Amino acid sequence: MIRRGSRTTAQKGHPFGRRPSGGVADVLWDWSKSGTRHAARSRLIRRLPGVGSAAAYRFGLVERPHYAYGVRRATELAARLGHRGVTVVEFGVAGGNGLLALAEHARHYAAATGVAVRVVGFDGGAGMPAARDPRDLPYLFGPGFYVMDQDRLRARLGAAELVIGDIAETLPDYLDTRADLLRAHPVGFVGLDLDYYSSTTTALGLFRAPAHEHVLPRVTCYLDDLPGTIEQIGEAAAVADFNAAHPGRPIGRVLGLRAFTPFDPPWADQMYVHHRLDHPDYARLEVGATGDQLPLDR
Ligand SMILES: C[S@@+](CC[C@H](N)C(=O)[O-])C[C@H]1O[C@@H](n2cnc3c(N)ncnc32)[C@H](O)[C@@H]1O
Repeated sequence: MIRRGSRTTAQKGHPFGRRPSGGVADVLWDWSKSGTRHAARSRLIRRLPGVGSAAAYRFGLVERPHYAYGVRRATELAARLGHRGVTVVEFGVAGGNGLLALAEHARHYAAATGVAVRVVGFDGGAGMPAARDPRDLPYLFGPGFYVMDQDRLRARLGAAELVIGDIAETLPDYLDTRADLLRAHPVGFVGLDLDYYSSTTTALGLFRAPAHEHVLPRVTCYLDDLPGTIEQIGEAAAVADFNAAHPGRPIGRVLGLRAFTPFDPPWADQMYVHHRLDHPDYARLEVGATGDQLPLDR
């Protein structure tokens, strides 16, 4: 996601320094880089007369379009498989802007598909914990970054659930105590934004858990913290380790997604899918019994 002014180092996306502070340089800045250009263009098109919410969703012009994409994939797959509910998760909530956007997209796609969408955010609440591994990018993130104002966020959460505590404790507890809810609303989308290799490794415990009925056979994932890192540290390393340990449950980048997503958005490079090859529903057709046909053009 594009967070103006929130990153301070070249490695995390400011190779030419921070955003200028006004005037033509400011506008030029927005249009010079694909990430900021995409967000600025979406804001602009949304303001055009006649561009309503349906068009904004169809063309990915909403806030945090990567979350909208994830919720759409989750609800569509759930509907195809005959589920009446699905759960979407944000790991790493901080102030809560992402969780509120996720909740808004959940309302939209619940109305569009008839699938009930539960929204759950996991966060420590007190800012980043201390790094536990050199691959946590300890040169970028320190303990106490991103403290949450819990009262303020809870006042705006609506039906979304906020689970506070270190996910090493809260996630296993949640999977245990909410087993029935998850069975009725299996997880279909996960936004990973915990910054650390170690925390991401813990969050991927969701996919290690033995109960198939708690997750859809394919779970769309968004990895927020890939840009500017390398494959051997951070989120990328956590995914690589998971894949090495669980060859039957790979997590891989969606190949070619940019090419068939409106406006060629940079976030498409950060969309992954967890394929649970041993899930009993894995081979059920998503496309309907007749599927696609490719007759001769002439
Ligand atoms: C970059 S912030 C999340 C930003 C948020 N997704 C947004 O879009 O505004 C990362 C968050 O991960 C949380 N976090 C990191 N490791 C954690 C852990 N082991 N348990 C719980 N929360 C953790 C921190 O508390 C922090 O708020």
